[in-house]
Amino acid sequence: MHMHGLIHRCRPLRVLLVLALVAGPVSAQDIVRGARLFSDTQVVTGRAVGNCIACHADLDALREMIRNRGGRVDDARSVRNLIDRSIAGAQPGAANAKAQYRGVLTPQDLRDLAAYLTRAARG
Ligand code: HEC
Repeated sequence: MHMHGLIHRCRPLRVLLVLALVAGPVSAQDIVRGARLFSDTQVVTGRAVGNCIACHADLDALREMIRNRGGRVDDARSVRNLIDRSIAGAQPGAANAKAQYRGVLTPQDLRDLAAYLTRAARG
């Protein structure tokens, strides 16, 4: 089957899939889509916004920042809420960088991004 071939050719995808299976309730689709949203935000949303990765290429640094802002990096809900507040302008440090996503990122986008940042960026 097509998916089978894809998983064999694409090692990162396979790693994410294994992580997702271990993670339980977070589906592989969320994490893979979250990874794409993070690196190709513009393409996935179809809007002229900055790609997250352009400012947050260092995922460990981003995870550290999430911790410093009171977020729990091992909890997708906590990470999602932090991104949500940040986009809403309630998180002073990132207000200008994040306002561009208002009305662009959907609740599902935030869930997928949080799934990616929580599971795949561990290290
Ligand atoms: C134009 C640069 C830029 C882009 C693009 C960007 N960020 Fe940020 N981000 C920042 C800055 C600046 C901060 C705050 C740094 C500080 O206060 O020390 C930040 C902070 C954060 C934080 C920590 C919480 C907070 O609000 O302080 C998270 C989580 C985050 N960004 C996620 C994302 C995600 C997800 C995307 C893509 C949807 C993204 N960022 C895109 C610049 C950017």
